[in-house]
Parts: sequence; C-alpha cells; structure tokens
Amino acid sequence: MELPCRDVEPSGIRIRGSTGVLRRSAAILAEHEALQRSVRRMRGLCQAVALGQGPPVAETRRLIAGFLADLLTNFATEEGEDGYFDSLVAERPGLDARVAHLHAEHVQLAEVMDGVRILARDEGQGPHLALTLERALDRFQAHERAENQLLREVLLGAERRDEQ
Ligand SMILES: [Fe+2]
Repeated sequence: MELPCRDVEPSGIRIRGSTGVLRRSAAILAEHEALQRSVRRMRGLCQAVALGQGPPVAETRRLIAGFLADLLTNFATEEGEDGYFDSLVAERPGLDARVAHLHAEHVQLAEVMDGVRILARDEGQGPHLALTLERALDRFQAHERAENQLLREVLLGAERRDEQ
C-alpha cells in the first residue's frame, strides 16, 4: 500500500508525493548518478579518440557496450510495470504526455547508442566515432535533465502551465 507522504521537510523544503514515488525515485536517482559517472568516462574517451590517443580498440568497444547495457538497465527500471514512470503518472495523471514523451525518447536513445556500438565495431575508433558518441551523450543528458526536472516538479509540487 502506498502511503501519502506530503509533509516531509528536509532542509525546510516541503516534499510531496506518495511513498511509492519517493522509494522509486531514490533508486532512479542512484542509477542516474552512476550513469553520469559513465558519461564523464565516455566524454573522456571521446576526447582521447578524437585526438587519436584512445585506448586499444577492444577497450573502446567494451566501454561503449558497457554503457549501452547500463543505459538499457536504467530504461527498464523506469519503464517496468508498476515502476517509476507508472508511479509518477499515478501521482500526477496530468504528467501522462510528458512521461510518454520520455518513454519514446528511450527507444530513440537506445537506437542511437546501439548505432554508436555498431560504429565502434565497424570502425574501431576515430574522429567520426568520437563526434557520434558526443552527440549521443548530448541527447542522453538532455533526456536526463528533463526526467530530473519532472521528478523535481512531482516532489516539490510545482506545476507547469501546460499541464493544467
Ligand atoms: Fe529515462
């Protein structure tokens, strides 16, 4: 049973949302932090590869494949039945369209990152791979910002005009 939890006030900030949202958001935020650490590693890889100073090709492929696997795990956590996305919509039905958009972005991002993995398999590494990976990471981080913003709005009770 999800208990209402509307009066938690760490640091004087009133937190809204059910315990279901809070519990799931803690897990999601931990995954997001881990992914951001991976993104920083991937950015470093991009710079090195662009300069022709990347690690051995096999290592580049392994890093990219590992990042893709972590990404898909995170998407599955967010999309799972009765999971994070479901808990957000249950808490705020007006967020349905924005959550559906984030879900659609998962499909696109998975395709884009799989394209990077295939490029690394075919080309090994080089400036084109570095640029393609950088663009994929830019899209992923924009997605993460939108997702984190949505969570902030749910937890802090803020509402966007277009939701009302
Ligand atoms: Fe996501």
